[in-house]
Amino acid sequence: MINYVEEHRQFNLMTTKTQLSINILPTNQLVLSYFGEKIGDVALGYVTKEIKRASYLANADNIPEFKLEQYPLLYPAYGNPDLRNPAFQLSHLDGSRISDFRYVSHNIQKGKPALPGLPATFATNQVETLELILRDEVKGLEQVLSISCFEKKDVFTQSVRLINQGQDPIKIEKVMSLNLDFLTDRFDLLTLSGAWGREMGLERRPLHQGFQGIDSKRGASGHGQNPFLALADPETTEDAGAVYGMNLVYSGNFIGSVDVDMHQNCRMQLGINPFEFDWELAPEASFTTPEAVFLFTAQGFNDMSQRLHHFYTECLITPSFAKRERPILINNWEATYFDFDQPILLNLAKEAADLGVELFVLDDGWFGNRQREDSSLGDWFPNQQKLGGPLPELIQAINDLGLAFGLWVEPEMVSPKSHLFTEHPDWIVQVPKRTPQQVRNQYVLDLSRTEVQTYLIDCLDRLLTENNIAYIKWDMNRNITDSGTKNLPPNRQKEFGHRYILGLYHVLETITKRHPTVLFESCAGGGGRFDPGMLYYTPQIWTSDDTDAIERLKIQKGTSLIYPPAAMSGHVSASPNHQVGRQTSLITRGIVAKQGNFGYELNLLDCTTVEKEIIKDQISQYKKYRSVYQFGEQTRLTVFDEANEMAWMKVLGDQVIVSYLAVLAKPNTVPKRLKLKGLAPQATYQLLESEASYRGAELMNIGLDLPRPSADFYGKEWILVKKD
Ligand code: GLA
Repeated sequence: MINYVEEHRQFNLMTTKTQLSINILPTNQLVLSYFGEKIGDVALGYVTKEIKRASYLANADNIPEFKLEQYPLLYPAYGNPDLRNPAFQLSHLDGSRISDFRYVSHNIQKGKPALPGLPATFATNQVETLELILRDEVKGLEQVLSISCFEKKDVFTQSVRLINQGQDPIKIEKVMSLNLDFLTDRFDLLTLSGAWGREMGLERRPLHQGFQGIDSKRGASGHGQNPFLALADPETTEDAGAVYGMNLVYSGNFIGSVDVDMHQNCRMQLGINPFEFDWELAPEASFTTPEAVFLFTAQGFNDMSQRLHHFYTECLITPSFAKRERPILINNWEATYFDFDQPILLNLAKEAADLGVELFVLDDGWFGNRQREDSSLGDWFPNQQKLGGPLPELIQAINDLGLAFGLWVEPEMVSPKSHLFTEHPDWIVQVPKRTPQQVRNQYVLDLSRTEVQTYLIDCLDRLLTENNIAYIKWDMNRNITDSGTKNLPPNRQKEFGHRYILGLYHVLETITKRHPTVLFESCAGGGGRFDPGMLYYTPQIWTSDDTDAIERLKIQKGTSLIYPPAAMSGHVSASPNHQVGRQTSLITRGIVAKQGNFGYELNLLDCTTVEKEIIKDQISQYKKYRSVYQFGEQTRLTVFDEANEMAWMKVLGDQVIVSYLAVLAKPNTVPKRLKLKGLAPQATYQLLESEASYRGAELMNIGLDLPRPSADFYGKEWILVKKD
């Protein structure tokens, strides 16, 4: 899987379908001579030797025509004649700011070491890791590039470690997790961009000369940009064409960039945002970057998505939950908001239980004196008056109805009106002498501090130990302003952002390990922290606060580019929708919410008898095919009119579910057919609704008959079973 060919000074990292080759130059710099489809164990030194050099570039090491700026470098430094964007930047006590790391040695090991204090993918089988060790002799620094090769998953990961073996402390000012240099700029850039309520909008644009990319300065990965970038050939479609994708296993400030240089080459990077970041590295200390996941496929976006879905399910999400069927839930947020008491909750729970729901989630408003958004975050003790008695009694009553119980918390926050803030006003993120900003009437707790972490661990531990809680919704409803911490001296304040995230990871790691049977769902005002870092701790994530089915089509399509269906939660909410006021049928809402983890978030007591019958059917149908909905291999299908329709299919074993939605009815159209993908061409598939049978080849080349668009047409699901 990983080999080193001494004769060519070349490393080959090969997965089943792809290959990454690295060469050591005679000067001991490392170049990425190839990344793409597997081509085999061939000497690739010519790739860099045959580059026709452009003018006006400096020679490296004073070697004539050794123009480092034209090489596809593996992890470029600042301080040599490559004057493009460096992958890292250091500053030294003597004021010097340049680096010169050269290859010293390497090792190849089976499996993949964990990263200290950070979430990371783990090896199942057939994984090897190459550690490339480089040194800056002048400063006594060691750099370790750790690249893991997941053979069967066709995925690579990389993390970088910097070790200070010198006498003086150094400052790290930038340290990317991954750098990929390409000898072309003929690509489109794909990102997942948006805002609160409209996360994960897929954007695609051609590269142009200069700097382009995405970032977050919000203290979280954010609603605005997902820590994901892809470069694709301009011709690439869902089903064919080259794609290079990268995703960061991190939940804080990040940057993802593509720099197109003067010679139509490009450099792609992903890592912690150097904005408001630096890190003091004392002698003998080391710093490890978060991990970047990256891959190449020649088979288009569906293939990239499917690979990442399999990879995250098997190598990132907590194994005990990764393939465990997730419960159908009712969440009381959009049903009641803060306005509930014990009878309201129990009536809702009873109705839900009668319809077949399995888990009751009590959202915001159950603790302290929280009647509105303006108080009590931090006071994580139950409001017995509102709950009609102690929390265990309410839980018991809900359990007696046959439902498991789940609870909402927002541990990272504190309200100014709270006991916690009165006792520890100095625990919030703030800058001395400045008035800290409130967002949604709340401050952020300084999770970089050990005492705050310990308090949260104790608090959550108690809640989970004393109560029969099966599920926790871990929310985070504001971003970080007033960035800084009391814990660090003035010259190290820029460490705060990363230390906050490390503190958060420590709390999550401790709590999830102590309570391994609790299902955690994270949320940050919807998808404000929907990233692989959070997914490592919380097997599912609330996709968006926008529950409108039509808006969700775009949001869930973008999410499905990277994250598996079981990571993505969708709820049927009321119509007209509370966020956008749109009216949609219950059937449409059901089809959309069933794309991932299914639930309801509306007042079931307001539903008509007919609606309740539909809900009952949706639930029993979802239960029957739950594993296909949650763990089936998902493929986005091609529709006739992309602006108005969306379709996808899921396949697990012999079962196939095809889902189709049309947004608006159009006059004077004729029905079209929907072609399926990825089936066995010669196998027979039986359509459950009509018992008609088709060959896989027919379904893929002719397709299913779509219903005629009309005012009362909402969408459709087909279930097919493979017969032979
Ligand atoms: C956030 C969440 C919602 C809900 C509210 C409660 O906005 O995304 O689902 O839990 O907080 O305040």
